[in-house]
Amino acid sequence: MSLSRRGLFTLSGGIVSAVGLTACGIALTSPGGSTGALLPSRLPLPSPFATELPRLTPLRPDRDGRASITVARKAIEILPGRTTEIAGYDGLFPGPTIEAAKGEPLRLSLRNELDVPVVNHLHGGVTPAEHDGYPTDLVDPGQSREYRYPLDQRAATLWYHDHAMDLTGPNVYAGMAGAFVLRDPAEDDLGLPGGERDLTLVITDRSFGEDAELVYPVSEGVIEYRYHGGVLGDVMLVNGAPWPHLAVDAARYRLRILNACNARRLELALDGGSGQVAEIVQVGTDQGLLTRPHRRSTLTLAPAERADVVVDFAQHAVGSQVTLVNRLGDEAMGQVMRFDVARRARDDSRVPERLSTIEPIDPASVVTTRDFRLSLGATGGSTGHASHADAQGRSLAMWAVNGRPYEPGVDIARPRLGTVERWRFTTDVHHPVHAHLVHFQVEQDGAPAWKDTIDVGPTSRAEVLVPIEGYRGRYVLHCHNLEHEDRMMMADFSVV
Ligand code: C2O
Ligand code: CU
Repeated sequence: MSLSRRGLFTLSGGIVSAVGLTACGIALTSPGGSTGALLPSRLPLPSPFATELPRLTPLRPDRDGRASITVARKAIEILPGRTTEIAGYDGLFPGPTIEAAKGEPLRLSLRNELDVPVVNHLHGGVTPAEHDGYPTDLVDPGQSREYRYPLDQRAATLWYHDHAMDLTGPNVYAGMAGAFVLRDPAEDDLGLPGGERDLTLVITDRSFGEDAELVYPVSEGVIEYRYHGGVLGDVMLVNGAPWPHLAVDAARYRLRILNACNARRLELALDGGSGQVAEIVQVGTDQGLLTRPHRRSTLTLAPAERADVVVDFAQHAVGSQVTLVNRLGDEAMGQVMRFDVARRARDDSRVPERLSTIEPIDPASVVTTRDFRLSLGATGGSTGHASHADAQGRSLAMWAVNGRPYEPGVDIARPRLGTVERWRFTTDVHHPVHAHLVHFQVEQDGAPAWKDTIDVGPTSRAEVLVPIEGYRGRYVLHCHNLEHEDRMMMADFSVV
């Protein structure tokens, strides 16, 4: 924890190529309902629906519950016929999908073959602090370490990604993100679609330079001021492929959708052609199954949020095309991928009306209520500055929690293990708020649901109930717009 922030800033060059852009105003909101600025690619964008959806590579622990991954650079094909160097897990983008079972501890050893330090965090995991991926708990170049995940928690679609201090944005952008599917055999009896019809979709937006390399607006280790609100790419990738297509059976599919974008919010809908909106049946959130299915026409996902949904392609004629669209995106970014209903098929799956049991928390059990204000700059502090300048006189936005930019080792809260708290978040602009270790009980569509990231809109207030469960130790809570997180919108809390 003795690393200074400035020291860390200088480490970031080189993972992705920098683009020279003149600093101008910071983009706090974009028309698409995201906070951030669009980073234009410098090559012709690939045509939509030309590439097949890649299957994610599964990574299953061995009999002793061990698995290993290596963080490495690799030149891969993302844009048709071009190569792009990524820095990712096992040289894949997204990383391999770790498939684990509830209650079966996993020992994940991670080897860092990059020239920058990395940190691994299992997002949504209930993990002891020393294995949780605290931002300064770095795995240096050439080093390895073992992360131990007890996985004693509800089955859910989790994900893992880099969490290095100040560098999470560029590192994740360069490729350090993957899905983590935690299954519970007890859920098999529900009859939800499985096997080939249980698909994980990792959505990321990226931008490319003329040379087809990923670009990220960082110069001399400092992100361009204009992008302090967030970096929005102009190529939509699903499982690492631009606007892919997938031939599907006329049957039900379970889609585990992860918004792994740095800053882009998505409002997803299924367009069955000629304006016909297909039904999305949501069965799960960030932290596992809902109590009962919810039929909806759109699904909003802020960065780091997940949704498990079931889509019945049998409701469409064989030969028809169903497009997953993003209602918050303009032009090309308004589309995500296309499903081509290819063939009739047998389907024994179902979506039962009772999916899981979630005991609603009695608000009377709350022992402490805490307020967290997420906003640009200090509020009511001694300086009152919304930004400050670095040594070269470049201005830097300071995103803050309760007026304080992140300072490792300083707790904003010290909740007690075994108690229940109420956390209230207020915002200036959109902030997807995420806490490590603990989960949020929210009310969604009139029923309790579990989340680890909530999408808090501009000048809004959100309230969640938080059972303080798991382990004692120091964790972080932060905004999951990664450019906000890297620009200090994070705070420590210690479970005591
Ligand atoms: Cu998705 Cu602090 O992480
Ligand atoms: Cu934010």
